[in-house]
Amino acid sequence: MRKIAVCPGSFDPITKGHLDIIRRASQLFDRVIVLVSVNPDKDATFSATQRMEFIERATANLPNVVTDFSDGLLADYMRDCGACAIVKGLRAVSDFEYEFQMAMANKKLNPDAETVFLTTQGENMYLSSSLVRQIGRLGGDISTFVPPEILHDIETGLRKK
Ligand code: PNS
Repeated sequence: MRKIAVCPGSFDPITKGHLDIIRRASQLFDRVIVLVSVNPDKDATFSATQRMEFIERATANLPNVVTDFSDGLLADYMRDCGACAIVKGLRAVSDFEYEFQMAMANKKLNPDAETVFLTTQGENMYLSSSLVRQIGRLGGDISTFVPPEILHDIETGLRKK
């Protein structure tokens, strides 16, 4: 049976940290769906279409990775697409409580939805989309934080905001 994993997130925008988790998930599962999802606690800077396009360009070299969007519950999406695992990256202990809570809630809503955590590589421990947005908006160098294929468009997008 083909094993499908979903990597959900706001991806506003995708960072090298996200990409590392997606790449490693693509080696563990037959197919990985990078799911741009709605986090009701966050106002997105980039539109869902832009975020998906950034992900598509950054993952173009990973043949078993596709991108999708959902404005519903992740637990329902998992059921609809036949995925067996939610893959998330864990940066530090500070991520754990929030991620643990979401993993438990998703399991309650869909008992087949297992959450798998991959530990972030040391160099990405501090990296987050919000840090990229803040530095980029103020004209700082974000080239070490985001994939090179989309650097220019992210920089341009952030300077306009
Ligand atoms: O990158 P983020 O913002 O930390 O990702 C959080 C996200 C988008 C994965 C989470 O908010 C989510 O799963 N949203 C979809 C709606 C949903 O299912 N919410 C309940 C989660 S337990």
